[in-house]
Amino acid sequence: MTFLVVFVCAVALGAQKEAEVSCGGKVEELLKKMTLEEKVGQMNQVNWPWERSKAQVELFAQQVERGQIGSFLAISNLPMSVRERNELQKIAVEGSRLGIPLMFGFDVIHGYRTIFPIPLGLAATWEPALVEKAAAVGASEASSVGVDWTFAPMVDIARDGRWGRVAEGFGEDPYLASVFSAAAVRGFQGIDPASPSRLMACLKHYVGYGAAEGGRDYNTCELSERTLREIYLPPFKAGVDAGAGTVMSAFNEISGIPASANRRTLTDILRGEWKFSGFVVSDWNSINELINHGFAKDQSEAAGRAVTAGVDMDMVSQAYLKCLPELVRQGKVSEKLIDEAVRRILRVKLRAGLFERSYVDPNLSKSALLTEGNLSAAREAARQSIVLLKNENSLLPLKKDVGSVALIGPLADNQSDLLGAWAALGKAEDVVSVLKGIRNKLSPESKLFYAKGCDIAGSSTSGFVEAVEVAQRADVVILAVGESKDMSGEAHSRSSLDLPGVQQQLVEVVCATGKPVVVVLLSGRPMSIGWIAENVPAILVAWHPGVQGGNAVADCLFGDYNPSGKLTVSFPRTVGQVPVYYNHKNTGRPPKEDNKWTSKYVDISWTPLFAFGYGLSYTTFEYDNLRVSPSRIAIGQSITVSAEVKNTGRRSGREVVQLYIRDLVGSVTRPVKELKGFKKILLGPGEKKTVSFTLTSDHLAFYDINMNYTVEPGQFAVWVGPSSAEGLEGKFEVVAALSE
Ligand code: BGC
Repeated sequence: MTFLVVFVCAVALGAQKEAEVSCGGKVEELLKKMTLEEKVGQMNQVNWPWERSKAQVELFAQQVERGQIGSFLAISNLPMSVRERNELQKIAVEGSRLGIPLMFGFDVIHGYRTIFPIPLGLAATWEPALVEKAAAVGASEASSVGVDWTFAPMVDIARDGRWGRVAEGFGEDPYLASVFSAAAVRGFQGIDPASPSRLMACLKHYVGYGAAEGGRDYNTCELSERTLREIYLPPFKAGVDAGAGTVMSAFNEISGIPASANRRTLTDILRGEWKFSGFVVSDWNSINELINHGFAKDQSEAAGRAVTAGVDMDMVSQAYLKCLPELVRQGKVSEKLIDEAVRRILRVKLRAGLFERSYVDPNLSKSALLTEGNLSAAREAARQSIVLLKNENSLLPLKKDVGSVALIGPLADNQSDLLGAWAALGKAEDVVSVLKGIRNKLSPESKLFYAKGCDIAGSSTSGFVEAVEVAQRADVVILAVGESKDMSGEAHSRSSLDLPGVQQQLVEVVCATGKPVVVVLLSGRPMSIGWIAENVPAILVAWHPGVQGGNAVADCLFGDYNPSGKLTVSFPRTVGQVPVYYNHKNTGRPPKEDNKWTSKYVDISWTPLFAFGYGLSYTTFEYDNLRVSPSRIAIGQSITVSAEVKNTGRRSGREVVQLYIRDLVGSVTRPVKELKGFKKILLGPGEKKTVSFTLTSDHLAFYDINMNYTVEPGQFAVWVGPSSAEGLEGKFEVVAALSE
C-alpha cells in the first residue's frame, strides 16, 4: 500500500516535471508575443456574479477578447452555465489575439453535488484513501460542468473550535493534516490534472490563517517562526510535495506582515526552500485589504507589494489590472517579475490541459452527478467519520426491531443543515435526513415517533411538551442536536461552543423522563458538551455528514457499521479552555492534581473533555507487547515500534492505532506528545494483529535553537495506543554515533 502510494506519487511528479519541460517552449513563445497589458491580464481573476446585467456580461466578453482576464471564479450550474463558460472560453481561445484559454475556478471543498462530510468529519475517518476518494468524486462531478480548478484542500491547522473554518480543515495536528493534504491533492489532480475528470488543486490559506486570535475569522495571528514551521507550514509542504498546482495566499497577517504580501513565506519558503513551481492566487480581495491592514497606502502600493512578495494572480481586487502596468512603466515593479508570474500561470494552464481541451461537453454532467458510485462513496465516508464518544452499558447498537424509538431534535428531520458549510452545488433535497435514515432501517413492526422539540437557535421552548410526550411513549430516545450549517465556515465564528438556542434544555428535559437516551451531535466544530458527556449514556458525533448523513447515522445506530472514527480536534470542557490541543508544551509547572501551584484552572480540570485521537467502538481492543527495536540508535538510523492489538469483543471492528513520541530534552522545549504514525486496521472478534511503525530521522527532527531542522541526541518516550491520552509507553535513545 505504502509502496503503491509512493509509486503513484513518483509517477505523478515525474509526469509533472515532464510536462513542465515540454511546456517551457510554449510558455516562452507566448511570453515573447505578449504585451504588458496581456501579461497583467493573465494575472487577473474576476468573479462571475450571481446577479449580472447584460452590460456587465458584454464588458467581461470584451475584456476576455482583449486578454485582460486570465481566470473566472464561481463557475457552477449557477451562476455560470456550461454554455456561458464555453462561450467565454471561445472568445479567449478563438477571439483573443494570443488564444490563451481561461481557467475556471470554484470552491469544491467536500464534494460538488454529491456532498461528503465536512473535511473535519472526513479527517475523523483517519483514512487517507477516503479523503482521496472524496476529492476524486468532487473533481469528477465539478469537471463535468466545466470547473478546471478547485480552491481546496484547505489545510489550515485549527486549535480553536470557535473559528468557523475549523469545519473546512483536517483538525489540530500537523502530521495528520499533512497526510490528508497530500491525499486530497492526489484525489483532485490524479496522476495527471489534465485528465477530463480531474481538477487543479489549490492549497489554502497560506499561511497561519487558523491561528486567528480569539478564533475570530480574519483576525490577526501572532506566530513565532518555530510555531509557523512546526505547526502551520507542514501540511502545505506536504501538498506541494504531492504536486499541488496552486496555493492561495491568506487574509491574515503573520506577526505584522500580511500573508498576501509576505515575501518570506511566499517566495523564500514556498519557492526557495520547497521549489514550488505552480502559481499563487490571492484570497478574495486580499490585495486591496493590504490597505486596511495598514501595509499599503493605496491600491497601487498594495499591488506592488503583493506582486513583489510573490502573489501571481489577483482574486477579484482588480489591483493588478489597474495598477501593475503603470508600476512597471514607472520602474517600480520590474517586468521580469511580471514575466515570472505569467510563466507560472501559463505553466499551470498547460498542465491543466486547457490548451488542448478548452471546452466542456454540456451533456457530460447529466451522467456525472449523484451517481450510485458517488453516493455509496459518500455514505462510506460518512459512516467512517462518525465518532462514538460514549456507550454506557452497550446501549448501542440498537436492535432494528426495538419496540419504539422517539427521534427528537432540530437536526432530526433536517436535510439542509446536514450539508455543512461550503457545500458547493449540494441541494437539501438530495440529503437523507436522520429521520429518513432511521425509518429506512427500522423493522416494519417498530414504531418511530418524531418531535422537533425546538429550533437550532432561538429561545422558544414551546415544543418541549411534545418532545417529552413522545419520549415517554418510546423504549429509547435519539436526540439529534447541534449546529446549523451556517454556524461554521467562513465568517461564522462563535464565542460559545455550547449547543445553540435552547437545545441543552431540550436534552435535559428529555433525559428527565428517565428513558435511555442517545445523543447524535451534528456540528461543524468540536463542542463543549460536558453535561451530555456526564448524563447521557450514548453519544455519537456525526459532524455535518453530507448527502448520505442520515443513512450513515442509522448504519451506526443500528450496528450495520461499527463506529471507528476518532477525533482530530480536542473537545473542550468549556470554551474557556480554548485553545486546547494535545501537542502542547509541558511548562515549568505541569498540572498536578494535588498541587495548586501548577498550570491549571481553579474551576475545571485542565484536560479536554475528549482528547485528540479518541473514539470508541462497539467492540473493545486491547494493546499489548510494545516493542521498540533497537532501543538505541545513532542519528540517521531508524527504529521499529510495534504493538499487538487484539479485538477482545464479539464484533468485528476497525481500530485506528496511533503512534506518538516525545523528545524529553531538547535545545528548545518539545511538545508532550506528537503524532508520528497511524494505521487503521480491521479485526474480527478475538483476532490479534501486530502493528508496526518505522520512525526515521524525519519523524524525530525539529527546528533546534538555531532553527536548523535536525535530530538531537537524547531520550525519547514513545506510545502506541488508541488516542493521544492513552497507550503503551516505551522509550529509546538517540546518540550522535553508536560508538558512544
Ligand atoms: C475564501 C476562500 C475561497 C474564496 C473564493 C474566500 O472568501 O476565504 O477560501 O476559496 O473566497 O470563493
